[in-house]
Amino acid sequence: MRLYSLLASAKINLYLEIIGDRPDGFHELVMVMQSVDLADRVTVRSLGTKEIRVSCSHPQVPNDKTNLAYRAAALMAEKFPDAYAKQGGVDITIEKQIPVGAGLAGGSTNAAAVLVGVDLLWNLGLTQLELQDLGAKLGSDVPFCVVGGTAIATGRGEELDFLYGLDNLYVLLAKYRSLSVSTPWAYKSYRQQFGDAYISISDSAGLDERRRRVHSGPMVAAIAHQNGLEIGQGLHNDLEKVVLSDYPKVAYLKKTMAALGGLGSMMSGSGPTVFSLVSSRQQAEQMKTQTLEQISDPDLDLWVAKFLPTGIRLDD
Ligand code: C5P
Repeated sequence: MRLYSLLASAKINLYLEIIGDRPDGFHELVMVMQSVDLADRVTVRSLGTKEIRVSCSHPQVPNDKTNLAYRAAALMAEKFPDAYAKQGGVDITIEKQIPVGAGLAGGSTNAAAVLVGVDLLWNLGLTQLELQDLGAKLGSDVPFCVVGGTAIATGRGEELDFLYGLDNLYVLLAKYRSLSVSTPWAYKSYRQQFGDAYISISDSAGLDERRRRVHSGPMVAAIAHQNGLEIGQGLHNDLEKVVLSDYPKVAYLKKTMAALGGLGSMMSGSGPTVFSLVSSRQQAEQMKTQTLEQISDPDLDLWVAKFLPTGIRLDD
């Protein structure tokens, strides 16, 4: 039986700015995405039958067609019917390390791994761009998760410009196990509160003017200079405005972590994971101990992770 075992890395957002509304109902964004080495193991195996199967022991991950990893395999079967007919279906096993509903793209990176794994299983020889295009049909973060590293993401989040990779920084990630934030809820709340200032992307003059006011420049320059201090100062996430006010525990967690020092602290994506940026593993471990001393809640999970220059990789 042929099989590929892949490591699917989580992402954090170093920058997330909401520009306005898109005709497809999504938000026009400017983000800076970064892969970290907290990763799930996704194993894909050829099946003799036409079946697509997905299994994951995590209680919050569905073992059915609603799992984005299943949908990734179904998309490959639909797009490559000859290979599917010849090679048969796929069995997908997900060993979860990345917390669920956390703002770390756990589901998206599992789907990205299935695209890469099925491409290998079926000898399709797809390019990274082709895999990214397929990924965009599944979710806004999937194209980034395929390639990983450090990138500016615009549009819905699927238009990527890769930046010089950062791999000399570490993060302490923290999340309350029992707390999840719905991404659609976060964007909907943001629209309700700040929608008056939205620019519609069909208003090209307005959009050009708004894009000139995007303030991701210092972050991109800091990345080019590989300057951790400046990266920490440039951290920004518009979604904090709605999530931190509705989830005071998360706001307190961020405040506690920020007070412990490091280069900067922020919520990732739609949360509720909070991260602190630091320049060494030792400092991240020290901050982990200090955070646990300050917030002795058995529901709080913490992870130390390193910046990674890649997304999906073979686990050998
Ligand atoms: O693309 P994805 O399925 O990950 O998005 C989840 C939800 O987040 C969308 O259904 C939408 O409500 C919101 N979203 C958005 N604008 C984006 C990305 C996501 O409004 N650019």
